[in-house]
Amino acid sequence: MDRRLPPPIHYSQYLQLEQLLGCQQPESAKYGPAAHDELLFIITHQAYELWFKQTVHELESVRQEFLSPTIPDSRFGPLIQRLQRVRAIQGLWLTQIDVLETMTPLDFLEFRDLLVPASGFQSMQFKRIETLLGVQRQQRTAADQDFVRSRLGAADQAELAQWESEPSLLELTDRWLARMPFLQFGNFQFWEHYGTAVREMLQRDRQIIETNPALSAEQRDRQLSAHAATSQRFEAILDEGQFNELRDQGHFRLSHRGFLAALFTHLYRDQPMFHLPFRYLTLLVEIDEGLTQWRMRHVLMVQRMLGRKIGTGGSAGSEYLQQTMMHNRVFLDLYALSTFLLPRSALPTLPQQLTAALGFHFSQG
Ligand code: HEM
Repeated sequence: MDRRLPPPIHYSQYLQLEQLLGCQQPESAKYGPAAHDELLFIITHQAYELWFKQTVHELESVRQEFLSPTIPDSRFGPLIQRLQRVRAIQGLWLTQIDVLETMTPLDFLEFRDLLVPASGFQSMQFKRIETLLGVQRQQRTAADQDFVRSRLGAADQAELAQWESEPSLLELTDRWLARMPFLQFGNFQFWEHYGTAVREMLQRDRQIIETNPALSAEQRDRQLSAHAATSQRFEAILDEGQFNELRDQGHFRLSHRGFLAALFTHLYRDQPMFHLPFRYLTLLVEIDEGLTQWRMRHVLMVQRMLGRKIGTGGSAGSEYLQQTMMHNRVFLDLYALSTFLLPRSALPTLPQQLTAALGFHFSQG
């Protein structure tokens, strides 16, 4: 057997430090004395790009697993671990802003004009994270879409279009949910029982509004119309036709079957079979939240650094970023599930055969 050892490798060789530490080139130094804080500005962005690279690596590996027609339960452990890693990295995205904010707006002005028209908007790895999760071109605001056309080079635009044509984690999660076997239960009409339990709960809520002596007539009317809207949404998720109409209008992105499977997973998450799927869906919500938290911190930093100035990329600055924060979210359907949850005490009791299928069983002999 060949037992030759690989040649010894030095720390700096392994990490390619010469290249890594050689690529911080302040623009200001090319035109006069280097602005002291430009090094921090460059290093912060480069550190983000490295963590974006790791984030893409994790999310793409999860997406690859979900591309296969079946995902064995044994794969969920590693997949969940990778998504937890993404959450931990998102924590770093936030704290790095604290470091950059040690630069004052006046110090930023020392070199800001030299960066035009470069902008974080042109970060392709950030766009990759967005599209991997499920941000679609048509959901972007008009200004955002216009920026994609005018601020990205031809090669970047082609790459973005290619990513957009591939199934995202949202779409693949929907397909996986829609395949979930526990939505047909032989003769047991779960969704009928669920509908009855929901209508009873809504009826009780309505009575509370109608008989609450503390409400003025105007307040009562307002609460009753909000209650009617909630009832309408409940009826819509129980009716595929109504659900699809709302989906066509952009109120849902999951399919009807996928949405019901996600809801069922949440309602019966105490069942052992649903522990990992529930954890997986919760992590998607947390990652969506992590991205939104970063956008929020970034907007606040931009307001602090620029006030009402436009961005180096030419956008309306913080106003533009507030819009992307609201529009470029992905897993809103999973947030919406909470509207349709019932207290455990009101949940339909599942047939024993079904609870047995959802549990883990060990028999000796
Ligand atoms: C002084 C600090 C910063 C300022 C003033 C700033 C400003 C801006 C502005 C105004 C935009 C909107 C596009 C434009 O007109 O340029 C933007 C977009 C963006 N910036 Fe920053 N930025 C800063 C730091 C960072 C850092 C450290 C990152 C990390 C990579 C970053 C990543 C991004 C990304 C990804 C976008 C696109 C966001 C989206 O499309 O929703 N920025 N930035």
